[in-house]
Order: sequence, then structure tokens, then C-alpha cells
Amino acid sequence: MSTTQHNSIEKVGAQLPPNQKYRPFPPVHLPDRTWPDKQITEAPIWCSVDLRDGNQALAIPMSVEEKLEMFQLLVEIGFKEIEIGFPSASQIEFDFCRRLIDENRVPDDVTVQVLVQAREELIRRSFEALQGAKRAIVHLYNSTNPAQRKIVFGMSKEEIQEIAVRGASLIRQLADENPQTQWVMEYSPESFVLTELEFSLQVCEAVAAVWKPTPDNKIILNLPTTVESSTPNIHADQIEWFGRHLSNHDSAILSLHTHNDRGTGIAATELALLAGAQRVEGTLFGNGERTGNLDIVTVALNLFSQGVDPKLDFSDLPRVREVYERTTRMEVPPRAPYAGDLTFTAFSGSHQDAINKGFAAQDPNGVWEVPYLPIDPKDIGRTYEAIIRYNSQSGKGGVAFLLEQNYGFDLPKAMRVEFGKIMNAYADKLGREIGAEEIYGEFRREYLERKSPLSLEFFRSQEDENLTQISAKIRRDSEMLELKGRGNGPIDAFVSALGSVGIGDFAFKSYAEHSLGSGAGSQAAAYVAVEKGGATFWGAGVDSSIERASIKAVLSALNRAI
Ligand code: KIV
Ligand code: ZN
Repeated sequence: MSTTQHNSIEKVGAQLPPNQKYRPFPPVHLPDRTWPDKQITEAPIWCSVDLRDGNQALAIPMSVEEKLEMFQLLVEIGFKEIEIGFPSASQIEFDFCRRLIDENRVPDDVTVQVLVQAREELIRRSFEALQGAKRAIVHLYNSTNPAQRKIVFGMSKEEIQEIAVRGASLIRQLADENPQTQWVMEYSPESFVLTELEFSLQVCEAVAAVWKPTPDNKIILNLPTTVESSTPNIHADQIEWFGRHLSNHDSAILSLHTHNDRGTGIAATELALLAGAQRVEGTLFGNGERTGNLDIVTVALNLFSQGVDPKLDFSDLPRVREVYERTTRMEVPPRAPYAGDLTFTAFSGSHQDAINKGFAAQDPNGVWEVPYLPIDPKDIGRTYEAIIRYNSQSGKGGVAFLLEQNYGFDLPKAMRVEFGKIMNAYADKLGREIGAEEIYGEFRREYLERKSPLSLEFFRSQEDENLTQISAKIRRDSEMLELKGRGNGPIDAFVSALGSVGIGDFAFKSYAEHSLGSGAGSQAAAYVAVEKGGATFWGAGVDSSIERASIKAVLSALNRAI
């Protein structure tokens, strides 16, 4: 950095109160705005700018191989318009464009788009890069806002407009000279949102007058939020104002290109769609200059969550994310909408409980209604595994969910409370996340493997005149006890047999069972609660025979009670 530059940056860094250093964004006078009452009922035309705006913002730009992989991914997702770069700006971008065309990699229903500044040699080079394309969008842009006019270019409005018109004229001429390609023209008054609306409109109309669009070959008027500077409602007003004042609207497509400097790029896009925009430029996961470009994944899945087909396929979002992260070397943050690692995860007990109940109540053929989950994670290729994770903030619902999802144990409600407390104390002590495997380990240690002082050695039952007769052997510490008993069922008979050997000072309270898995080799799980000394103790047992599972559960409960 030169000394002069350094000094000027030092000078700019002066501390001033915000009301002296910054200005509020002026509202648009549009008292009869209509967008607040509208709804988005269909997907816009999507244009991916991952390979241009996204790529130009990377510390390490994508290699040609990575770009090819990204292009293929974008095609598979369903993008029909893809900005592939700035071929006049570098040989790599030119070569990439040529490879796509020469190697026939562009499907017939996909249109490639290239960006170009309004300079003759760059426009000519862009047409060279696009030779042989079946259909192509030439995207011309120049800055129109007052700050750039004054500070960067030192030009009047007329001169700025003249740049755009000259660029458009040359594109018109070259397009006419190359009729083998179906040409579409796009014009961006760069920094549209910071430009006087009347002037943006005037330049766009002047460009359109040169291009002469028709309803069958529309001009794309892209109205970029180059730097996001206002609240989303003002952006929507800007778009509605523009659409209302544009002549020959039926020969134009209004397009958005929303950067995310205020963190509201998605909201601004959605409101601007209400306000009449028909096309959206953006990138996967919001990659792009500075805070990024619009995150198309989120806008598309927001539509999906409202029952609108986004016309983009994110049914395998983890794969989209994997390719994106590998080719761009960017990371999707853990809390990113839809794609983040923690997006569908609940740690908090009350959330876990509600999700658990929501899953139990969800009609597989009904409208999605699971609390805290805006969409079914399975619809975008995510599993239910990460939905509930367990730490000291969590509760019984989380423990129950993890045991059931991963190991098939559906604990009775009251037992969830008991085991939840045990796990809470455990998590509090360790102060970290506890995985499903560890929860299962504690469940085994606490219930299934609780074999002291009482353990089952042998058990047989038979029906006898509506009563069940059992014979069993149990070990009490090192002593072997032979039991015989009769009752209304195996548990009743076993409990009465226990009484006959002096293990009777408890009350049998509750019982539940279910199979673990299906098929011939499947096991059964049984849960038993006993009351002893005024307190309730749960036990659990697993066995290939449901009777033995129940008897083990009785002994597990007694072992915990003794
Ligand atoms: O952000 C922007 O304004 C752009 C234009 C070139 C469309 O990327
Ligand atoms: Zn941009």
C-alpha cells in the first residue's frame, strides 16, 4: 500500500457518532404499494451465479475440474440458467467456457450466461468465448449509482448511460452477426438499490430500446442489490416502483441479485418477489462477495416449506453441500437453514419432548406438523439421527428418542422420567454431549445388566386350568433358589413364588412390553415397575422369549430396589 493510500485510510478511520457518520436509507414514496398483500405461488426463474459471483469471492478460486463438477451439480439440481463466469476477464474463464461448449456439456434446456463490462474488446472476446453455444445470455453491466459516478468514474448521468447504450449496441450488432446462437440480453445497472430509481429506469429503458426485446425474446433487467443497504421492505418498494413504471413490461423479465450485507438478503428477495420480480440470481449456500450473495437453497426450500414446488431438486442436500464445500473450500455453518449440522437438532428438553410427541402423532400421509421442525428432514435427504442430541440441557424426551431411534427401546412414560433423571445427573457430571451409544450403555448398566443380588438361571411356565404354573431357579448372590408358583400369568406366578422364598416385601405396579425389531431372530423387551418402601423402581429385561424378558425385568427392578 502506498503512503498516500495508507494516510487516506487512516484519515477515514476517524471516530464519529453514528448519526454523523451514517445516513438512514431514504424510503420510496409508494403509499399504494401492493406487495404486502401478495403471496409467492410459484417458483421464479433461477439463475446460479456460483461460477462467477461465487467463484470470484473465493480465496482460492475453483480449478477448471472443480468448476466442471460444480456446473454438473447445478445442472443436476435443475438450474436452467447458469452464469459460468467472466470469460473476457481471464484465460482460465475463457477456456472453461470453451470446454463447456466444445465438449457438449451444456444440456439443451440449460442456458449459459456470461458477464461482461461495457467495453468493446471485452464484449468481442465474450462473443468469441460463446461461439457455438445453442443459447446464451450476455450479461452487460455498468455502475449507475451516484457515489460511483462521482468518485470512481467522474462521469455525468448522460455519460454513464452512454456507456450502457454503447455496450448494448455492440452486443446487438454481434448477436445479429452470429444468428446460429439464440441470444438473450441481460442488463444490470450495478448498485441499482443505491441508484436514483428514475435514473435506473431511464438507463434500462435506453438499453432496451437498443436491444428491442419482444415478448418472445425478453430482455432480462437485473436490478442488483450490489451492497445491501436498506431494510427488505424498501427493496420491495424499489422493485414494485420499477415494475410499475417500466414501459413494455411484457418484453422484460425483472431479475434480482441480492447481496447480503445486512444479513437480510433472503428476506429482501422474498419481498421483492412479492413486489413483482420474476427471476432470482444467487448461489448455493449464499457464497459471493463479502457477506455473500443470495442463498438460493434457503429461498427454494422456504418455498418448498410453503407447499410451492421450487423447481430445484434438493432431495439430497447433504450431497449438494459436500460438493459445494469441497469445490469452494467454504463451510456451511452448523446453524445454516436446512443444511447446517445443527439445523434439525434439539438439545433442549422441552423441544425434544415436543418433537418426540410430534413424531408419534404425525400421520404419514398428512400435512407435516412436527413441532420445531419446519420441514421433514427426510425430504432433503437428511436423517432423523441428528434431530435430538443429548447434553445437560436435555430431558427425558431426548433420552427416550435416542434409545428408541437407535436401539428400539420404547420406554413407558413413567420409566422415562426415572431414566431421564439418571441421565441428567450423568450429563451434569460430565458436562459434555452424551451420544446415543453412551445412553444405551447407561441403560444396560442401570437396568439390563443389573444382575445382583438376584439373577435368573432357569425359567419355565405352563398353563394349567386357567392358571399359570412356573418353575424357576434364581441366584441370590452365591445362593441358588428353586422357585415354584401359580398365578394369573407368568409374572403373577413368579411374584408369588418369590414371596415363598422371602422376597415378597414389594408391590408389583406396572408392566409393558414390545418386540425389538422384527423377524424370527427378534428379541422382546419388557419393563416392570415395583414399589418398595414407598418408592417406585423400574426394571427392564431383554430376551428372545417375552416371558423370560418379563421375569428378567422383575428381577432388574428388584435389584434396583434392594
Ligand atoms: O452484485 C452485483 O451488482 C453484480 C453485478 C455484476 C450483477 O454482481
Ligand atoms: Zn453480485
